[in-house]
Amino acid sequence: MRARCSVSVRARYAIVSAVYASYGAARSLALALARRAPWSVRHAVPAASADGRARGGAPPPASSLVESLAARGHLIDPLKVTLGEPLRARASYARCARATWRGMEAVAKVFPEDAEGEATHAAEALMLSSLGAHRSIVRFLGATARAPRMLVLQWAAGGSLHDDVHNAGRAVGTGGDVGVGRDERIDARRAPAVPAAQPARSRWARDVRRALNVCAALEHMHSLQPPVLHRDVKASNVLLSAADPATGRAAPAASALLCDFGSACVLPANESDSLGIGTPGWMAPELLGADGAVHCGCAADVYSFGALLYELAAGALPYANLAEAEMMRAAASGTSPLDHAPLPADTPAPLSALMRDCLAFDARERPDARRVSERLAELLAELLGEGREGEREGLSCATA
Ligand SMILES: Nc1ncnc2c1ncn2[C@@H]1O[C@H](COP(=O)(O)OP(=O)(O)O)[C@@H](O)[C@H]1O
Ligand SMILES: [Mg+2]
Repeated sequence: MRARCSVSVRARYAIVSAVYASYGAARSLALALARRAPWSVRHAVPAASADGRARGGAPPPASSLVESLAARGHLIDPLKVTLGEPLRARASYARCARATWRGMEAVAKVFPEDAEGEATHAAEALMLSSLGAHRSIVRFLGATARAPRMLVLQWAAGGSLHDDVHNAGRAVGTGGDVGVGRDERIDARRAPAVPAAQPARSRWARDVRRALNVCAALEHMHSLQPPVLHRDVKASNVLLSAADPATGRAAPAASALLCDFGSACVLPANESDSLGIGTPGWMAPELLGADGAVHCGCAADVYSFGALLYELAAGALPYANLAEAEMMRAAASGTSPLDHAPLPADTPAPLSALMRDCLAFDARERPDARRVSERLAELLAELLGEGREGEREGLSCATA
């Protein structure tokens, strides 16, 4: 989600402006930003366009939201949704809770009943509705268009990839804020990322397969006309489809599903609206104005995906010991998470190489999502080929 960090929106504005200043950003952009209202809105706010796709601009009129959702069979009557226990002890901007709808186990993402809540709810609802179904995108069941404003999503029983990687698979809903901020960093220090007993090769294959799922979602979004950017790719915005009843953790064969489209946008993205969108640590240098202007293209998602690969491989957050302002400075000056802290020695060489390419400072040097998928698929085949027969069977089932 946009501007989702523990610093206030005004402080964030100041930090990014300082990053700008220190890297000689264009004066005209600084002026444009100064004219812009402070970041009081957490998301880019798409409005319904003729094709119903979400676009930057003012919030859509309620009638347009109703029409767009209804046209795709995504309009949900709030009275038909039964809310259950909250997924998180600490409230973030929107609250996620277990829910049932039409007898289905679901999750409701409930937005505050104020102008900002209305706009952000409409933005994410229209984006999810227009994206269409994809096997690696959390299934959107629909959204309400009046209070309580909510999105209704498929329940992903394995919880978030963030919890699986950084919090030793802590079950969803058992506390802690899973948004990115200081709390995640504390959690990450507390818990071992991967159980020691897990055989290394099968663990790498599992992680590469999950990465491949996420990349398939990006490939799909980037191939739409016009392309859609997620702009907040990170492990806490990836869900795992199934839990293992024996351990309560995400099932090894669970599919990874991209979620949280609150920062997503349709290209071309407005320059001043793209500055600093995303989460420090995962945010591409060009979104920080590193080379003097803000460039928002598909390569920004590839950079964040590289940071997600880093999370998987290192079992640590990008720039784990830095404050957010320092992270942004590091990224803007060309120090990627990989340069900041090395990977474990047993990281497969093709994975390290891919990560380095995704985290290239120059957006033009990064591979596109399709090429990233190909390289991950090659690596997965290699890992499975090297594995024992039993492991190979289990993992290839999971890939299907
Ligand atoms: N469909 C779902 N199934 C299971 N857990 C979910 C689901 N949707 C969200 N969550 C949990 O809630 C967290 C926050 O959801 P997200 O959509 O990222 O909201 P936010 O905009 O607050 O970041 C996720 O990281 C995940 O732990
Ligand atoms: Mg999120």
